[in-house]
Amino acid sequence: IKVGIIFGGKSAEHEVSLQSAKNIVDAIDKDKYEVTLIGIDKQGSWHLNDQSSYLLNAENPKLIQLNKSNDNVAIIPGSENNQMIHASNGTGLDKLDVVFPIVHGTLGEDGSLQGMLRLANIPFVGPSVLSSAICMDKDIAKRLLQSAGIHVAKGLVYTSANKGTISYEKAAAKLGTPMFIKPANQGSSVGVSKVKTKKEFEQALALAFDYDNKVVVEESIIGREIECAVLGNENPKASLPGEILPQTEFYSYESKYIDEKGAELAIPADLPEDTTKQIQQVAIAAFETLQCEGLARVDFFLTEDGKIYVNEVNTLPGFTKISMYPKLWEISGLSYSDLISELLDLAMK
Ligand code: DAL
Ligand code: MG
Repeated sequence: IKVGIIFGGKSAEHEVSLQSAKNIVDAIDKDKYEVTLIGIDKQGSWHLNDQSSYLLNAENPKLIQLNKSNDNVAIIPGSENNQMIHASNGTGLDKLDVVFPIVHGTLGEDGSLQGMLRLANIPFVGPSVLSSAICMDKDIAKRLLQSAGIHVAKGLVYTSANKGTISYEKAAAKLGTPMFIKPANQGSSVGVSKVKTKKEFEQALALAFDYDNKVVVEESIIGREIECAVLGNENPKASLPGEILPQTEFYSYESKYIDEKGAELAIPADLPEDTTKQIQQVAIAAFETLQCEGLARVDFFLTEDGKIYVNEVNTLPGFTKISMYPKLWEISGLSYSDLISELLDLAMK
């Protein structure tokens, strides 16, 4: 079976994607799958490579620079000769049986890449165009979750069009302090701030608007940070939950990928059995509400009085060596390699 692994991308999570791709390539069953690596550099150009690619030398999220050599130039929309399907060396997307698009964030996780793969008629791992797009947008996803009776943090939404109406006083009166300020469409906590004062609020908004023209401001939920992995199409199953124990103010990009002591993971989370069950049920409910397929990692807050809030749903969660999604399946009895096979099978169903 010919598998294309698309990775990198123009989003702020480029480096995270390189690490995810590296781990997938290491774990994939080489007897069963023939891998074609397709790297997207930060400028958005596509590169075809072999297994030993420099693109996957991704040990440190701070240091990765793509080598922009165009040796065996590839494919794709926006490239100079605008060849959508065929690479110059003849290996094209149309020769692939299935694609694992492990590009996080904008253009990779938001339905854009999924739309291109649909046009090219290639099955791919993960949710559809629609589901990817709604899960990527924290505002839209929350509205749908809320209307399905799932608890989400209270929030306000600002766009570059109504920016003028923003007032710290109004936001603080509605949401209390501290507040979280997030670009609506981002991942890995890039552009996210936790703020207490008017000055911090204003700086954080400016930062979030650097990443997106829609920004959500949310109340801060005080509770444990729990994550649950969901896998499947029609009858998805939920893993045991895991817990993030951030050693910093919140689970930031820095604490996720840079600072080794930034966060500890408890896998599985130390939870009473009925709470575990409830979390698994809400994870599946969120997955179905947002019409996910294949996989998603559902992130929660669990308050002291037992209330379960969905923070967000990630349709292409991290597969780095510290990432929760594959680890949660490992303790649930599915090895990394079997997990990849299962995801590819689900994509081709
Ligand atoms: N957005 C990152 C990759 C995650 O959810 O794990
Ligand atoms: Mg996310």
